Amino acid sequence: MNLKDEFIKYFVSQGHVQIPSAPLIPENDPSVLFNTAGMQPLIPYLMGKKHPEGTRLCDYQKCVRLTDLDSIGDLTHHTFFEMLGNWSLGDYFKKESIGFSFEFLTKVLNIPVEKLAVTVFEGNEDIPRDEFAANCWKELGISEDRIAYLGVKDNFWIAGESGPCGGDTEIFYFRSNDEIPSKFDPNDDRWVEIWNNVFMEYNKAEDGTITELPQKNVDTGMGLERVVAVLEGVNDNYKTSIWKEIIAEIERVSNKTYEGNEVSMRIIADHIRTSVFISADHAGIKPSNTDQGYILRRLIRRAVRHAKKLEINTNENWMESIALEVIKKYENYYSEIKDNKEVVLEVLKNENIKFNRTLEKGLREFDKLIKNLNSDTIDKDIAFKLYDTYGFPIELTEEMASEHDLKVDAQGFKEKFKAHQELSRTASAGKFKGGLSGTGEMETKYHTATHLLNAALKIVVGDGVHQKGSNITSERMRFDFSCDHKLSDEEKQKVEELVNSWIKDDISVTMETMSKEEAVKSGAEAMFIEKYADIVNVYSIGDISKEICGGPHVKTTGKLGTFKIKKEEASSAGVRRIKAILE
Ligand code: ALA
Repeated sequence: MNLKDEFIKYFVSQGHVQIPSAPLIPENDPSVLFNTAGMQPLIPYLMGKKHPEGTRLCDYQKCVRLTDLDSIGDLTHHTFFEMLGNWSLGDYFKKESIGFSFEFLTKVLNIPVEKLAVTVFEGNEDIPRDEFAANCWKELGISEDRIAYLGVKDNFWIAGESGPCGGDTEIFYFRSNDEIPSKFDPNDDRWVEIWNNVFMEYNKAEDGTITELPQKNVDTGMGLERVVAVLEGVNDNYKTSIWKEIIAEIERVSNKTYEGNEVSMRIIADHIRTSVFISADHAGIKPSNTDQGYILRRLIRRAVRHAKKLEINTNENWMESIALEVIKKYENYYSEIKDNKEVVLEVLKNENIKFNRTLEKGLREFDKLIKNLNSDTIDKDIAFKLYDTYGFPIELTEEMASEHDLKVDAQGFKEKFKAHQELSRTASAGKFKGGLSGTGEMETKYHTATHLLNAALKIVVGDGVHQKGSNITSERMRFDFSCDHKLSDEEKQKVEELVNSWIKDDISVTMETMSKEEAVKSGAEAMFIEKYADIVNVYSIGDISKEICGGPHVKTTGKLGTFKIKKEEASSAGVRRIKAILE
């Protein structure tokens, strides 16, 4: 049985529309590095915007959570995972949601009721205790002593600090051969959480005030790898069918068995899988020293270090056959994995070569350093040298240090790093915490300006221009496009003039909803057509621009102010990047 397929089949049979997994790297949202939950791309719809596919949705969503990065190597953690989810956007609420979960678990997956327990929200000064949810469970046959009431910390869910939120009910499974205790204790770790149903009926503002949303929603999330482990009756997630071929390939490449080498093999397996997904994403992330690129670099380099521990010859392209197992596993579910297979393999190969050049020397340097160390802390200068000369991400130095019961002056390193480089990794570290920031007025203006710039480039540079990426903050826009040459000053000036003339004309921006097929037929452009649902929004700006887009946009172009190109530079082979502002 394939859990992913069964889940979708069940919810489609209950009137839900399957929507595609959103890209792993959120577009136009600089506040988070990666999608961390199935609901993240749906925030505008939970807040009340009409979803083109209706009010009942389901999907499997690619997620990366970096909070767990240090735990990788244990039995249950992964940096990348797939979240199965079903949503009601102002449609059904608690009773139906609980009913669906119960039916799916007990009838489709055939989990015995005795193995299930639930938690519900005990309430606080603002929100009452959720007796309603508890009663729904009781009516279905969950006994009183299998229901625990917990507070905000456990049973109130929000992504980050603000946005749609609500009390939740979590479903637990007894993962042990021991006799099942009659009373459910959520702190007994033989009970593992498998599914979370959030009743999103509130919005939390930045200042902490809670108000009711215009509609009552349901947002659920089920961790695929954990439930597969449950169904297959193993305690080690890496022993499930999900990882079987991948671990077997690592065993083959290292000529060692999983037994006895679990930690390094899990880290290699996890990090290669996540690296495949990050580098296959349409955002075109490459290993670098900032943001997602830095995470990708860290993951690959940590995998290389653990390969060395397993005595794999890292001078060879050792990652490729393992990555191919990952690709084989997922390419039928995620088209970008198939389409960007060569890019992914290139990224892994090149970063391996790059790190391998200095790894050996760096490891020797590290051994020498710790022999001569006369304290229990590696100072900032050594950590910086390992980073700067040998390419050791600070987290890798910290990991190596902890294997020798040593600490690292990471704070000192960070200060030194900042002083040496303008690149501020700490700034991006702040983004890990997640939470989709609301799209403000300036961001909305930049969205519309992006469409105008795209149209102007097509006129000035030629029809061959296609959007390759975009990134917007409240301060500026960044736009990547296909083009084989550096823009001349004249071209840049013409583009600016065109965009500003359209702004001056105060042209209406209109939105229509139609099928993807119709949209393409009508000439609407889209950056990555396959990632959109079957029904899409098409934004037109007079007859200047027509694009499939999630929005939001201003009503007329006159609101944008003055458009100015600040910089035009190469982004990657055949791709140029424009940074521009609105004044
Ligand atoms: N959004 C909820 C979660 O991630 C379902 O747990």
